[in-house]
Amino acid sequence: MGTALLVARTLGALPLAQEQPSFWMPAEASTGAHVVDATFYFVLWVCVFFFTLIVTLMLYFVIRYRRRAGREVEDSPPHNMPLEILWSGIPLVLVMVIFYLGFRSFLAMAEPPQNAYEIQVTGQKWQWLFTYPNGWVDKELHVPQGEPVLLTMTSQDVIHSLYVPDFRIKRDVVPGRYSKLWFTATEPGDHYLFCAEYCGTGHSDMITRVVVHPPGEFEKWLENAANVYKTMPPAQAGSEMYKKFGCVQCHTIDGKANTGPTFKGVFGSRVTMSDGSTVSVDENYVRESIMDPQAKIVRGFQGVMPTFKGKITDEQITWIIAYLKTLSDEH
Ligand code: CUA
Repeated sequence: MGTALLVARTLGALPLAQEQPSFWMPAEASTGAHVVDATFYFVLWVCVFFFTLIVTLMLYFVIRYRRRAGREVEDSPPHNMPLEILWSGIPLVLVMVIFYLGFRSFLAMAEPPQNAYEIQVTGQKWQWLFTYPNGWVDKELHVPQGEPVLLTMTSQDVIHSLYVPDFRIKRDVVPGRYSKLWFTATEPGDHYLFCAEYCGTGHSDMITRVVVHPPGEFEKWLENAANVYKTMPPAQAGSEMYKKFGCVQCHTIDGKANTGPTFKGVFGSRVTMSDGSTVSVDENYVRESIMDPQAKIVRGFQGVMPTFKGKITDEQITWIIAYLKTLSDEH
């Protein structure tokens, strides 16, 4: 890095907080980042000021009062009360201000808001696992923008430490206990998440992303991510739906009639209804039977099935149809 760039970046860090990344810090991306930066920059500029003052005075005194031929050394007075009060009083005020700034932000970070969205975090050699309220487990941390998020963290093996520089948050993740960390992300997009505790060979592999979703997007992401059925073949997903929606309780797949007709061999067959008409079982008939079960009742059965309108999606119906087809193929 060139000296000019270094100077420019250092000067760029002069303000107490920053929208843009500086030489010292990445851009702030959480509501709590501001007080952390304010405290850091306050301490930094106090140090810069006193370093300059002390070194300048020291150099001046070294030259001004150096030993010279023909000059007597005078006795200096043992005490200078006003000076001693001054050099004790000013640092006392400064450290009290620093304590106040630090303690205030510590309290703000220690107490998560009541309505925080909770995500469980597991640290292990060598990856992070994030468990969402609906049971979905992801290797990346996805969060909604503008909502407080609470991380309840534990480790399966050794001590790790969850660190998100953009959010100015870091806390140890310890086996056998839970530690908490909370933040409200303000900037949508990707942010780095690190392990900040040396935990073994793969320590540097424990880098992942925090993805901050704009308002309304997070719920969509979670629903899609959690929908593991989308990754299955449709017939297999349909078999899961058959159990999930409780079809299994009334419709067998072995050819025996139950409360409802069996599903075995039903797709593609012709079935007689209670009014004497016959219907060929195709996609539209299956869909109608799920959404409006009383529309056509198979002869010999009661119309006792509840509607699944509003409970099942078109995609899920498609999977069930794919599953029914496999039950007819075996014929
Ligand atoms: Cu986990 Cu370092």
